[in-house]
Parts: sequence; structure tokens; C-alpha cells
Amino acid sequence: MDVKFLTKFIDEEGLDVELMKSEYRWKAADSWTKAFENDLLMKYLSADLRTPPEQSKMVYAHFGALLLYGLTKIVLVIDGGASVLVAYVQPIYMHDMELEASSFRTPSKSTRKSGYLASQAIRFVEWLPSAVTGLKRAADANAKMERMRQDNLGQRKDEMFWINAVFTHPEHQKRGYAGRLLDTLLKLADLSGQGCFLECGPENVAFYKGRGFNVVDNVILESEGSRVEIRLMVREATK
Ligand SMILES: CC(C)(COP(=O)(O)OP(=O)(O)OC[C@H]1O[C@@H](n2cnc3c(N)ncnc32)[C@H](O)[C@@H]1OP(=O)(O)O)[C@@H](O)C(=O)NCCC(=O)NCCS
Repeated sequence: MDVKFLTKFIDEEGLDVELMKSEYRWKAADSWTKAFENDLLMKYLSADLRTPPEQSKMVYAHFGALLLYGLTKIVLVIDGGASVLVAYVQPIYMHDMELEASSFRTPSKSTRKSGYLASQAIRFVEWLPSAVTGLKRAADANAKMERMRQDNLGQRKDEMFWINAVFTHPEHQKRGYAGRLLDTLLKLADLSGQGCFLECGPENVAFYKGRGFNVVDNVILESEGSRVEIRLMVREATK
């Protein structure tokens, strides 16, 4: 990905959004950990682990994941990592931009694949010390979500922007940070004519609906009496 192009694009937006820098990574990892402390999906996945994941260890896992994401995905931040957005951006063509279309480069398919595999490896290591039931839950959740993406998006999935994560440190929420990060990415998606998709819990549907996303499907994850719902939301490019 052409960092120079992205930096210029972000600067021109005139918002306080930046690309991730190495000095922001610990703060961003901390925001990630704290933002998902009470997340229903995380609780579901770790519900019957013998040892619940420790917050301090999660920060290291998130730091490592952010390091890898920096190589393969767009990682936008506000306030030095208080709020973060992570997205996969597929090859796109910037016809309407002043810059040459060739100045925007996304990683090759094989680079993205290695990045994805590496991030999956991190997740695996994160869950390794845990009970087998936990791993089963995570594997089942991943399989169900992938089937939902395939059923609804098919081949299109490989051409769309995939918003993997949006989070704001609890002490910095409700200041418009996540909204501004999302708006920046959506502007980029619109310029390139690409749709976007993401998965989220029902509690976040309104946040994304306000920015043009619609719920197209949902999966229910159920195990031993606990249950969580995940929505698939899609936003088409607007001109
Ligand atoms: C969802 C989340 C990312 C939102 O982050 P945020 O930085 O607080 O988001 P914003 O401030 O841009 O907007 C959130 C809401 O606060 C409102 N808001 C924004 N500024 C505000 C202010 N100054 N005062 C009061 N409310 C405000 C926005 O209108 C928005 O309301 P809406 O959801 O009805 O549209 C954050 O709550 C979070 O990290 N949650 C945990 C992780 C998570 O669930 N992530 C999403 C996974 S899909």
C-alpha cells in the first residue's frame, strides 16, 4: 500500500485521523483490550475457558496483531491510538483522484494471505493455553461467519473493503472518534467505487446504519446455554 498516497488523502480530509505509527501501538493495543473488555462475543468465546484470558496478556496479543496488520491492512488512528479502525482494502482504482491511479497500491494477494495467516496464528496462540471448548467455540464462530460472508457476498467479498475492527478506549468514547475514522475509510471506498462490509453485534447496528450500512444477514452462535448474535452489514459505494 502506498503510504504517501494514503497520508496525503487523509491530510486533505482535514480531520485528526492518522495512519498508525509505531509510537501509537501500545496505546492502540490498550484501547483494543479495554474496549472489548465487556464485548459479548469475547465473553461468549471465553465463557468456559479454564483460565479466562488476562488483560495484561491480551495487550501483548493485540500489540502483535497491530504490528502485523500494519503490513497488510489499513490501520487508521485518532489521538495517538485512543481510537482505531482496521480494514482490509482490496485493489482499487482511483480514477477521480488528482494522483495517478498507480500511486495507490494494496499488497499482493499472497502478502495479504500471509498477513491473514499470521494474524490467525496470533489468535491461535492467544487461545492455546485455554481449554479445548474455547477453541471449538472460536473455530465454530469463524466457520459460521465465513459461510455467512460467502452466502451473501460470494466473489464480491474479494473486491470490497472489509472493516475488521473499530474500537475506542472507553475513556475516549462518544467524542466522534470512531465516526471520523469510519468516515475517512468510507470516503476512500466511495472514491474507489467499492462497497464495504463488516460484522458486528446488535448493539452496534445503529452506529453503522447511520453511515449507510444495512444488515443483510445474521448468525447465532450458541453453546451450552450461552448465545450471541452477529450481524453482517453491507454498504454500497455512493458517488
Ligand atoms: C462502537 C465504538 C467503536 C464507538 O466509538 P466512539 O468513538 O465512541 O464513536 P463515536 O463517538 O464516533 O460515536 C458513537 C456514538 O456516540 C455519539 N456521540 C458522538 N459524539 C458525542 C458527544 N460529544 N456526546 C455524546 N454522544 C456523542 C455518536 O452520535 C454515536 O451515536 P450513534 O451510535 O447513535 O450514532 C465504541 O463504543 C467501542 O469501542 N465499543 C467497543 C468495541 C466495539 O464494539 N466495536 C465495534 C465492533 S463492530
